[in-house]
Amino acid sequence: MKAVILAAGEGTRLRPFTVSKPKVMIPIANRPIIEYCVEALSQNGIKDIVIVVGYKKESIMSHFEDGKKFGVDIKYALQPKPLGTAHALLQAESEIDCDFLVLPGDNLIDPKEVSNLIESESPNSLLIAESEIPSKYGVIFLEKETVAKIVEKPTEMLSNLISTGIYRFTPAIFDAIKAVGEKGDQDLTAVVQHMIEKGDTISGIRGIGKWMDAVYPWDILHVNGMAVTDAKMGIAGNIEEGAQLKGQVFIGEESTVRSGAYIVGPVVIGKGCDIGPNVCIYPSTSIGDNVFIQPFSLIRHSVLMNDVQVGSSSMISNSVIGDGVHIGSHFSTNNDEALIKLESGYHGVKDIGAIIGEDSDIGDQVVTSAGAVVGAKCKISSAKKLEGFLPNRSIVM
Ligand code: G1P
Repeated sequence: MKAVILAAGEGTRLRPFTVSKPKVMIPIANRPIIEYCVEALSQNGIKDIVIVVGYKKESIMSHFEDGKKFGVDIKYALQPKPLGTAHALLQAESEIDCDFLVLPGDNLIDPKEVSNLIESESPNSLLIAESEIPSKYGVIFLEKETVAKIVEKPTEMLSNLISTGIYRFTPAIFDAIKAVGEKGDQDLTAVVQHMIEKGDTISGIRGIGKWMDAVYPWDILHVNGMAVTDAKMGIAGNIEEGAQLKGQVFIGEESTVRSGAYIVGPVVIGKGCDIGPNVCIYPSTSIGDNVFIQPFSLIRHSVLMNDVQVGSSSMISNSVIGDGVHIGSHFSTNNDEALIKLESGYHGVKDIGAIIGEDSDIGDQVVTSAGAVVGAKCKISSAKKLEGFLPNRSIVM
């Protein structure tokens, strides 16, 4: 069996974290989320993988190359324009000559879920999950074990069963895609609904393992929280005397954790970091490579991507900080329930701190209100209070 991973989309709803990388390269426990898909396939013996790339494709291709480093054989298909998931899958047609799996590259998937699909007796199957917010997904109506109907992102609450977007198909799917495409619809959901209407059976397989995806920036916190719990643990860096590490902690090569630091896992810290004296890092936190955190700062339930710098006496909680963000001293994120404004509209979110896009520069003594979104490459002067949504390249003087 082969597999196709769909990784061509930008992930506009995850802005500002997709300015220079596609959503599938967003780090979760310091690994691009798409790596979890590749690993789930490889662990199930599926080594022939086609990745459909498009937006910022180089970042994916240079990460995986031919797949050998990851124990798999990867080929690439190009979707030049974002014309929908079915159109993306069609680009892989020439590489597929047998039954195969389709996975969206932005999912955190348990290898057990993949084995359920491989073992399915039905040639066309869909992995389904439950969601409290089904309007973000394709919603499923099941009759016994068969998908009776699938509706893409309905505004009304129809059912809490949703499509994970993870399918098992035969090559006949490509003809179905072409037939539906002629009518102008290029989404896999429309193709599957068309197959159901013409009498094909699509089995709905209820997953028992973990499955999560990141749709909005704050979802990164939840997906990361799940991944750090299962992440590989170990200490490769230098831990100074007087630093304390408790629970599951991973510290990468050439990182230094200085005296008086107190780290409570699950926490993952990348390579080349400098975690200053008396810094506290609390559970469900990921810190990327080359991150500098100055003395007396506290980081809790957050994701700091690569090359971030945090000044002394800062407090970062329930926040996602993009690559290359520089933050001055005495920075503080307020946490609460917030109505967050994004390009896609307003979203009610619980327990949220700040969302800060890559390469933004933030002065000293800046405070963010709960749910503040700072775009990429913003410049914020010292002693400002930030709230609401700041577009990319905003300057706050
Ligand atoms: C896609 C599918 C949707 C599915 C979801 C799962 O949506 O269209 O049916 O529920 O993946 O992640 P997208 O993430 O492209 O909005």
